[in-house]
Order: sequence, then structure tokens, then C-alpha cells
Amino acid sequence: MGYRVAVVGATGAVGREMLQTLAERNFPVDRMYALASSRSAGREVSFGEDEILTVTALDKFDFAEADIALFSAGGATAKDVAPRAGEAGCLVIDNSSAFRMDDDVPLIVPEVNPDAVDAALRQNGGRNIIANPNCSTAQLVVALKPLHQKFGVRRVVVSTYQAVSGAGKPAMDELFNQTRGIYVNQAVRSEIFTKQIAFNAIPHIDVFLDDGFTKEEWKMTAETKKILDPAIELVAHCVRIPVFIGHSEAVFIETDRPMTESGVRDLLRGSPGITVIDHRADEGYVTPHEAAGEDAVFISRIRKDPTVENGMVFWCVSDNLRKGAALNSVQIAELVAERGLAGR
Ligand code: A2P
Repeated sequence: MGYRVAVVGATGAVGREMLQTLAERNFPVDRMYALASSRSAGREVSFGEDEILTVTALDKFDFAEADIALFSAGGATAKDVAPRAGEAGCLVIDNSSAFRMDDDVPLIVPEVNPDAVDAALRQNGGRNIIANPNCSTAQLVVALKPLHQKFGVRRVVVSTYQAVSGAGKPAMDELFNQTRGIYVNQAVRSEIFTKQIAFNAIPHIDVFLDDGFTKEEWKMTAETKKILDPAIELVAHCVRIPVFIGHSEAVFIETDRPMTESGVRDLLRGSPGITVIDHRADEGYVTPHEAAGEDAVFISRIRKDPTVENGMVFWCVSDNLRKGAALNSVQIAELVAERGLAGR
């Protein structure tokens, strides 16, 4: 038996990737619904190589018609619609930050905390809502999980270099238009980002909080604690860079137990969701350009941090639309299907 699946935000950067990923991974679909705002009703989107779907307006859709809904339409829409969808018996997998820190909503990365998914069900105290983490957190916790299990990660310092697609399709258009405009001497217009993004780096993602961190930085701390271990101390500095797809992270960890470079390399090489490419040569590391379109979390540049007792540094790159968003959501849907948590 297949599932009746709805993708909410099907015209957006992540929504399109969700449709592509569901098709690529042969998710068992009986009926697929592409939903977006009423502005997009009647537009067409692809589902895999051969199928074209006509977009339905979200406000016209009855969620009793779907078993699983993958939401990527922003926090406000999720807050408004997801609880109703859950009540109608549809299991929601939401990509926004609307529910991530709610106690009755599990925050899931399937390689890291698959067992927490059961708590989403109403009979287990949940709301039929599962949250997908922030894109920077998702790739990071995939890398941290095996290290934490084996060496006990105590503290993490992470600097991010984040692609514009994390801010949606209009943000990708802004980078494209600014870049093209600068070559022909046009005035730069910034509408999505706070400053010019073309040929620049912006140390400001999401809003500022009272303590001087941005909300993106806070999310990395809070979500890592919820998914992996509340005892882990994490401090983040998040930067937007003019890359279309692929988030990069420089990660500095301190652990309870000693590590060797080769021990870390071998451990990560054998861990789910991770590809290690780490040679000290020109081609021996992965860049976001190479990670785009790939499912893996790529780890490179593993080296000992000589300034602390048990410290290691590495470079972590992944396609933010995939592992950071669409792929993780589809993997959650697969987990839900495997465990028989959704459906009639
Ligand atoms: P639409 O294209 O009709 O505006 P992105 O993050 O790439 O900007 O994509 C956001 C997605 O969420 C789009 O598919 C967008 O649809 C959808 N969306 C945004 N606001 C709403 C809303 N109020 N109701 C339904 N879908 C929405």
C-alpha cells in the first residue's frame, strides 16, 4: 500500500526538492498533492521525471485526504495549518522552526534519534507533528553523533558558511540578479538580505537576540541539545555567503576521551549518512559546489586541535536543500512508513 502525500510549499526551493527526493527514493505514493499559496494555484510542478502535478491552493485542501504532509511553507503557515492537519489525522513533517522546540513535537534526524519519532503520535502525547531541524543543525548532528557516542562530545565551536538557498528561492534570485547587475554597473538592490550578498559575506542570519547571538546561532545550540544531548555545550557563528547551494561548517570539538585523527577518520567513514574525503592534497576535500545535488554529509580536513586536551577540527559540507531540508524530511517519512505510524 502506498500513501497519500501532500507537499506544502511545492513551488518553493525546498518543496521542489521534496518532490524530487520522494520520486528519486521511490517513496510509496498512491496520490501526490502539490500545495502552495492561492497565487500559485493552477501552476504546474514536476514530480520525478515523468509526472506533472497541478498546484492546489493550500486553503482549499482538506488534510483528511492525506496520510503524510511535508511542509516547507514557512513558520507562519505551519503554525496556522499544521495543527489542523494533525488533528485531521495527517502526520505532518514540518521544515520550519515553528514547532521544533515544543515538548510534544519530536525533532528528528533519522541517523541520530530515530526512536524519538514515536512520540509524534497523538496516543503517545504528540500532535501528529514531527519537526525537521534547521539546515545547519541537521548536517552537524549527523557528524557529531558517532563522535559523541565514542568519545563523549563536551563542547562544540562552529562557524558556518551558508548558501543563499537556505533563505528560499527569492534569495537565490537576489544573489543571481545582484551578481549579474554588478557586471553591468547596475545599482544593487537588497530586499531579502540585509546587505549586498553578491561578492560579500553577511554575519547575520535570522534576527538578533538580546545576548548578541542571532536566532540561527541559537537554533544550532538549542536543536543540537534537543536532538543529541542537552549536556553538549555549543557556540555558533553563522555567516551567509554568495553560494547558491551547500552549507559549509568549520567545526571544533572537545571530548571527554582522547581521539586520534585516524580514529576519527575511520569512525566517521563507517557512520551512516557520512562520506569522508580527506587527503591533504588539492582535490582532497569537498566544497559546497561539489556537495550540491548529493545526499551525504561530507567531512574533510580532519586534524587535531593542539590548543586543548582532547580537541579535533574538521570541515563539514552538505547540500542544505537535501540533508538540511528535503532529504531529511523524506527520510523521516520513510521512518514513519517503516514503523507504520501513518496511513489509513
Ligand atoms: P507560493 O509560491 O505560492 O508563494 P521559498 O521558501 O522557496 O520561498 O518557498 C516558500 C513556499 O511556501 C512556496 O511554495 C510558497 O508558495 C509557499 N507559501 C508561502 N506562503 C504560503 C501561504 N500563506 N500558503 C500556502 N503556501 C505558502
